[in-house]
Amino acid sequence: MVDRPGEPNLAALFDGPQQMSVGERAALEGFLELAKPALAIEIGRAEGGSLRRIAAHSAEVHSLDLVAPPAELAELEQVHFHTGDSHELLPSLLAELASAGRNVDLALVDGDHSADGVRRDLEDLLASPAVSRTLILIHDTTNEEVRAGVDRVDLDRAAKVAYADLDAVSGRLFRAESLRNQLWGGLGVVVVDDARTRGPGEPAGDPRFFDTAALLREARARRIGRARHAARRLRRRLIALGRR
Ligand SMILES: C[S@@+](CC[C@H](N)C(=O)[O-])C[C@H]1O[C@@H](n2cnc3c(N)ncnc32)[C@H](O)[C@@H]1O
Repeated sequence: MVDRPGEPNLAALFDGPQQMSVGERAALEGFLELAKPALAIEIGRAEGGSLRRIAAHSAEVHSLDLVAPPAELAELEQVHFHTGDSHELLPSLLAELASAGRNVDLALVDGDHSADGVRRDLEDLLASPAVSRTLILIHDTTNEEVRAGVDRVDLDRAAKVAYADLDAVSGRLFRAESLRNQLWGGLGVVVVDDARTRGPGEPAGDPRFFDTAALLREARARRIGRARHAARRLRRRLIALGRR
């Protein structure tokens, strides 16, 4: 998965430990290509799937996780590894960067997936002067817990938020038994640009569209309702057959 200038690297879509779908990875590549980060932050590294791609496009990356990085990630020379709780690490890292007059070009929020955890990570980013012209990407925005956390942040009120699309890439309703009927994935983007102000009353999101995540929750409720109905009918038939 080595990037060589001018050469294709489709393996980046499939290789290595990955927690993102192919669509999410392609979008991540596009956002990274646009942002060309001098400085990036990743909250939540796990095995380093997204980190490897962020590092491939960035001059300097700060990667935060509760768990120490696997040894093989040490080869990523431009990455500073921070081990601990993002709710403690992130505010002090951002304060340090802000006092050095630095700007974070891209941040990925993919750590604490509780609603309150997502809210705190996003609010910490938005509150920092180091986040002035920044692409903030949020993974798993289709998951109801993660989405509830993002929805608690009033993006419309944050003047420096130029645009937000929480369903930029839609997540999936799982058929696989291990995650049956769970909603995971989805890549949201919040564009921070303190030089691009929205018009008065103009929302951060695009009001033309329904939330895809909400539509998927409705589809799931219908599916589960149909499955339960079919199971009840089958049970009644079996009972009736048993009585004959
Ligand atoms: C979904 S994984 C990240 C996947 C990774 N971004 C990728 O796409 O390859 C979530 C990670 O967040 C970490 N995490 C959970 N809560 C955290 C917290 N409060 N602070 C920092 N990291 C946290 C977990 O240890 C886990 O490694």
